[in-house]
This record gives sequence, C-alpha cells and structure tokens, in this order.
Amino acid sequence: GASVDDILDRLCATVEDYPKPGITFKDLTPVFADPEGFRVIVHALTEPFAGQFDLVAGVEARGFLLAAAAAFATGTGVITVRKKGKLPRRTISEDYALEYGTATLEVHEEDIPRGTRVLLLDDVLATGGTLSAATRLMERTGAHVAGIGVVLELTGLHGRAALAGHRVRSLQRIAG
Ligand code: PRP
Ligand code: MG
Repeated sequence: GASVDDILDRLCATVEDYPKPGITFKDLTPVFADPEGFRVIVHALTEPFAGQFDLVAGVEARGFLLAAAAAFATGTGVITVRKKGKLPRRTISEDYALEYGTATLEVHEEDIPRGTRVLLLDDVLATGGTLSAATRLMERTGAHVAGIGVVLELTGLHGRAALAGHRVRSLQRIAG
C-alpha cells in the first residue's frame, strides 16, 4: 500500500495566496475524500499510541473528521472540543490567540471521566495555540493527554514548543 508520504505528496493540495496574499495554504480535503488516503492517514495518527488511549478528542472543525474516524477504528469514544457557545451543558473553556484577537474552545466537563487517557487530534499544527488550549481543557477535566497527533506540522511556526512536555506526532513536517 501507499505510504503516508506518498498519500500526502499526491493528494494534499497547495493553494497559493489563500486566505490572503503571500500565504500558501495546505488543503487536506482531497486526502480525506480519497478512500485509501483517509484510511492511511487515520491509521498513521492512531498507530503510535495504540493501546494507550481510551478516548479520542478532535478540535472543531477539521479535527472532528479525524477524531471520529480514529475513535471508530480503535473502538474508543470521541469528544468534541468545540468553539465557544456550541455546547448546551456545563462547559469549561480556554482562550487562545489568533492573528487578530482571541478565540475560545470548550468541552463538556462531565463527558470526560477523570483519569481518562485521551488522544488529541487535529489536522494541522501551526502556532500550537489551538492544540495547547485543547490540551489545557483535557487536563482541567482530570484526563491524561496520552498523545497529540496532527497530519501536517508547519515547523516555522514552532507549535511543537507550545506543546512542550507532550508526545506530539505529525505525519509530515513542512517549513513555513
Ligand atoms: C486551523 C487548523 C488547526 C489550527 C492550527 O483551524 O484546522 O485547528 O488552525 O493553528 P494553530 O496551531 O496556529 O492554532 P481553524 O481555526 O482555521 O478552524 P477550522 O478547523 O474550524 O477550519
Ligand atoms: Mg482547525
């Protein structure tokens, strides 16, 4: 079968000047749309942490796809780490910095039993703001973050440093 690098080199789309001039955007939607691509990516995200997690958490929105598939494939449950205001019951929240301003992520605190081992997934690690906020949320519930997995890591933005102390696995590293 195709390797992760084969899949990403063939299917990940590169879009120049999106979302604004000078930015090169990596679009994973063709990877998700490809049966082999999606299967290979989801397997590669869970495999390093096999047997080490009880629950998969995905960050809205693109992380939801990966987390749901990973949970189904590994016989675990899934948690939605949502943007502010989407969850109806008691939540805890963490803010993170955007290029302009801040954003907030929330989870239902009671959905995550204390001591649960969580695999946290998202599509891209850029500055690490998103995943570090998600990590703080998991830890505040009393969960243990067993690992953090992303498809693409944009190494120039040093997101890995924002996640220091955690096991971070990226399937492909890209400068910039
Ligand atoms: C993108 C991407 C990651 C995050 C990475 O999500 O899907 O979640 O940015 O950036 P960071 O490491 O600098 O925090 P975005 O906030 O654009 O939203 P979406 O997933 O809902 O499209
Ligand atoms: Mg996102």
